[in-house]
Amino acid sequence: MTTYFTTYHKESNWPPMKKPINSLHDQENVHYPNSLDLNYKQVELDLMGALKRRESAKDMQIGESMDRLKLGTLLKWSIGDMDGKRMFPSAGHLYTITCLVVVKQLNGVKPGIYEYTPATHSLGWLCAYQEIDNAFVQDGIDFNVCLVLGTDFKNVSKHYGERGYRFSLLEAGHMMQNVQLVAASINVRVTPIGGFKDKIANEFIPLMDFKTIYLVPVGE
Ligand SMILES: Cc1cc2nc3c(=O)[nH]c(=O)nc-3n(C[C@H](O)[C@H](O)[C@H](O)COP(=O)(O)O)c2cc1C
Repeated sequence: MTTYFTTYHKESNWPPMKKPINSLHDQENVHYPNSLDLNYKQVELDLMGALKRRESAKDMQIGESMDRLKLGTLLKWSIGDMDGKRMFPSAGHLYTITCLVVVKQLNGVKPGIYEYTPATHSLGWLCAYQEIDNAFVQDGIDFNVCLVLGTDFKNVSKHYGERGYRFSLLEAGHMMQNVQLVAASINVRVTPIGGFKDKIANEFIPLMDFKTIYLVPVGE
């Protein structure tokens, strides 16, 4: 039986239709007029401790203690940049996955939708807060912020053709794993939501052709 995924898997076999170009994603050059610098602190828990404590929360609430420092620490050590090196691998060093941050309730930060820029460890303002809870298919999840990992698949496909789609999903998975481990280390709760309503999850994002891969509510 031929299915879409067997056809897709065959069409995306190596070698890709285009040769990779070894360059960083354009995001490095995006400058927001309204951006918010984040800070961060060291994470004390060791890797084994974080692995043991890692979990996907099935119920979650808005936490009182979530603030800019906690968010900054979570982002820095999971998907951030240190001296030009990211915390996760990326095919061809392209880093095509964007992390948007939907702030619902966070001490010291105006509710809204922001784009995280690892190089400057800052949040760039995109637009006012919008209710993304409607994209969830499950109950019991409320959050302070919701990370949205996604991409315009054309960015990676420019370099890797159809195989770029596979690479995007793999890269988002690496980022998600880090988010869970760091969250476990700083006592915040997260869940990787892959089961969401695509139309809703994509239409509230004010970026052209952005497609959501993961919704990641962060709370307590
Ligand atoms: C690709 C992927 C998609 C997932 N989607 C959801 C989801 O939509 N909702 C949810 O509650 N959990 C989701 N999860 C989390 C799993 O339910 C969870 O990893 C599993 O129950 C094992 O629990 P643990 O991560 O706490 O060990 C997803 C996990 C992965 C890897």
